[in-house]
Amino acid sequence: MESSKLLIEGGRKIEGEIQIHGAKNSVLPILAATLLCGGANSGKAGISRTCAASTVHNCASLSDAFAAMRILRSLGCDVTHEGSTVTVNSANAEGDIVSDGLMHEMRSSIVFLGAILGRVGRCRLSFPGGCELGPRPIDLHLEALRRLGVKITEDHGILDCTAGARPLNADITLSLPSVGATENIMLYSALGTGETVIRNAAREPEISDLAGYLIKCGAEISGQGTSTLVINGVPELHGCEYFVMPDRIEAATYMGAAAITNGELMLRGVRPSDMYSCMSVFSEMGCGVYPYDDKIFISARKPITAVRTVRTMPYPGFPTDCQPIVMAVLAKSRGTSVIVENIFENRFMAAPELRRMGTNIKAEGKVAVVEGVNKLYGAPVRAYDLRAGAALVVAALGAEGQTQVSNIHYIDRGYESIETALSSVGADIRRI
Ligand code: EPZ
Repeated sequence: MESSKLLIEGGRKIEGEIQIHGAKNSVLPILAATLLCGGANSGKAGISRTCAASTVHNCASLSDAFAAMRILRSLGCDVTHEGSTVTVNSANAEGDIVSDGLMHEMRSSIVFLGAILGRVGRCRLSFPGGCELGPRPIDLHLEALRRLGVKITEDHGILDCTAGARPLNADITLSLPSVGATENIMLYSALGTGETVIRNAAREPEISDLAGYLIKCGAEISGQGTSTLVINGVPELHGCEYFVMPDRIEAATYMGAAAITNGELMLRGVRPSDMYSCMSVFSEMGCGVYPYDDKIFISARKPITAVRTVRTMPYPGFPTDCQPIVMAVLAKSRGTSVIVENIFENRFMAAPELRRMGTNIKAEGKVAVVEGVNKLYGAPVRAYDLRAGAALVVAALGAEGQTQVSNIHYIDRGYESIETALSSVGADIRRI
């Protein structure tokens, strides 16, 4: 059955305020980390259920979050979900297999590998498929886990992993600051004994959020947010209550909606300190961007001007996840912008669809030249990945006429009912 579509009548200014939800890329590793609670004595009779129970607040209703909850249940956790609060009790979590279906449903399930190994000492899962952004290898994850004594065999796409003896002291240098690899090493080395040092670690705020959760559960971690993380294993982790950080990519997406429609928007429940590189690009476009406390006000009363060069970089550089959104906004601007995508091999999936809306974008390898045009025109377009889909919605808001975005299940992975949020600030958008 054809998945649902979004129907957008463009040309209306985005004005008002939006409450930003919890970060998808933080809640996923944190949900995996709940598996570690009730930890080292796992399976021993008499683990008081409280020590294994975590309450995670500010969890957005996203299909990726639901997939993570399904994985936890398949591993033996009790998971309840009410509104934006998820409770996970992993007292009886002894599973060590992530089904092929769940692995293919969400490739970022690879972050469960470190948690399952940390909890039960063995894990079988299939190689995460590549995705729209490129092959998405996990060589850095596997290399690091082997350095931590994990035995890994790969056979017909199935990874069979067994934890090695502890204590284990490891000093790991990542060849690139991989977010997922940093998370998997943190999750595996939090329980047990020995000191693990990660050099050239990812510095994303989501890493610090995962560390915040683990420390609240009793883990000993330092250096989060810097390139060198030190984790000292502890014998047991207990559950805790935790509030997930706000989603900086969702916030940047709605900033793009305000910018392309020359509107004004107050974003509530954000953390401006996570978003300097995003805010500076919107300022360079000519938007007024005013961060304070847990809010950002953006005003785009003037026409958007081109930005000479936008380069995606590991945090604190400009985030690759915002690149498609900024491409859509720059497509309708004065002047020519150059976008350099340094993180993923194939992240200009929005370009061909945006071209159907009258944009003038030439994407070649890791560089896209965006010649701004005065007007975009609504057209039937298709989402091919999460953020490219969001970029099409942003472009549709700034286009004349009607746009139909299909394959919006991609968008639902990372945005909690995007149409509700946008129609609350003046957009004519509905799901059919
Ligand atoms: C996380 O993906 C995010 N996903 C991505 O968000 C985000 O774009 C990315 O970090 C970069 O910030 C989640 O957190 C669930 P990486 P991840 O490992 O961990 C290469 C979204 O839209 N690499 O930092 O997979 C890799 O191919 C998603 O919300 C290896 O070569 O990102 C990529 O080119 C998309 N070998 C680069 O490193 C490895 O072993 C960065 O990947 C691992 C990664």
